[in-house]
Amino acid sequence: MSQNEAKRLAGEKAIDYVEDGMIVGVGTGSTVAFFIDALATVKDRIKGAVSSSEQSTQQLRGHGIEVLDLNATGKLSLYVDGADECDGNKRLIKGGGAALTREKIIAEASEKFVCIIDPAKQVPVLGRFPLPVEVIPMARSLVAREILAMTGGQPVWRDGVTTDNGNWILDIHNLSIVDPVGMEQALNQIPGVVSVGLFARRPADVVIVGGQPPIVL
Ligand code: 5RP
Repeated sequence: MSQNEAKRLAGEKAIDYVEDGMIVGVGTGSTVAFFIDALATVKDRIKGAVSSSEQSTQQLRGHGIEVLDLNATGKLSLYVDGADECDGNKRLIKGGGAALTREKIIAEASEKFVCIIDPAKQVPVLGRFPLPVEVIPMARSLVAREILAMTGGQPVWRDGVTTDNGNWILDIHNLSIVDPVGMEQALNQIPGVVSVGLFARRPADVVIVGGQPPIVL
């Protein structure tokens, strides 16, 4: 089965978690794009969505799904999002699509975080995928130096990419993250860091691995 097909099956399976009257938190990426298409088929059952990116907002609105402001909705029952890596404890690396900060905010605001992935995203130890860190532009070099000293990993500026929040991304290469909660906490302390693409303090609650049939962890 192709990776794209596995993404589609994971996205469609996540509809099982959508209940009548919900406001659904929606992540970003190609797997989530399949979820949004599936959500459109039940759009009359939901109140609307809170979106983690301009990209997802456009797709949701294109389907006629109302996009609401998190400040107005309060806590959400459900958040559905993809990931770049997932370990055996449902801890994640996210941010390949540069939407990590809004994704982290919605994950924190949600009671249930359902993560939808294809099998290639499963890893024993996080870090093979370069860890995205969103930084305030003026702090880029400072943060890069501190990341190098702190982790030994190689921070690389994702040149040409500006986040929806007007910031930049550093991708940290060559990590083996044996203590994801500790690393998330430590990187968050560096002045100029907006957020870190490690979702360890608040991991996923449910992971759906796309396949025939999808596996729910
Ligand atoms: C965006 C993300 C995505 O969830 C992650 O990059 C996975 O993307 P895809 O579903 O396209 O493989 O974190 O910031």
